[in-house]
Amino acid sequence: MAIVLIGFMGAGKTTIGQALAGRLNKRFVDLDTYIEQREGRTIATIFSADGEDYFRQLEHEALRTWLPEDIIMATGGGIVEREENIHILNQNADTFWLNTDIEKLFVRISGDLSRPNAAEHTFSQIKELYNKRLSRYNEIAFMEVDSNKTVEECVELILTHLSHS
Ligand code: S3P
Repeated sequence: MAIVLIGFMGAGKTTIGQALAGRLNKRFVDLDTYIEQREGRTIATIFSADGEDYFRQLEHEALRTWLPEDIIMATGGGIVEREENIHILNQNADTFWLNTDIEKLFVRISGDLSRPNAAEHTFSQIKELYNKRLSRYNEIAFMEVDSNKTVEECVELILTHLSHS
């Protein structure tokens, strides 16, 4: 079963996931990158050509494909938008929620055209989305990791928890 990183856009899932995979000598899979490679187009193009619902279906299928594998997985921030995903991830003991202050997240993601749910969004719109997802992240997380900390500190926290579980 995969070790899964969840959390809002810009929380560091990819960076921390890669570092964690290096430490554990496991393969790292970023669901967004996997979807882009399979589709041969970017997330932004998928959203604009086929809509968010279509992307969510691809994301759900990608999650089901990779969850049983012995990998480190970074999910997209909207993985909790689908009830089925919450259900599946709830059964996975090794789901870590990376959480960072919304002010910092906004600086990192605002205006990022590769992120359709952040580009051209105001602070209050992003904050509303963040608040809506918080309880869902919390519900499925085995542990919340404060990713205001450095990448190394986050990796150490996750490793410590894994070694005690
Ligand atoms: C999304 C987050 C993105 C990506 C897509 C939608 C979201 O992933 O899946 O743009 O709705 O929060 P990151 O969290 O890696 O930016």
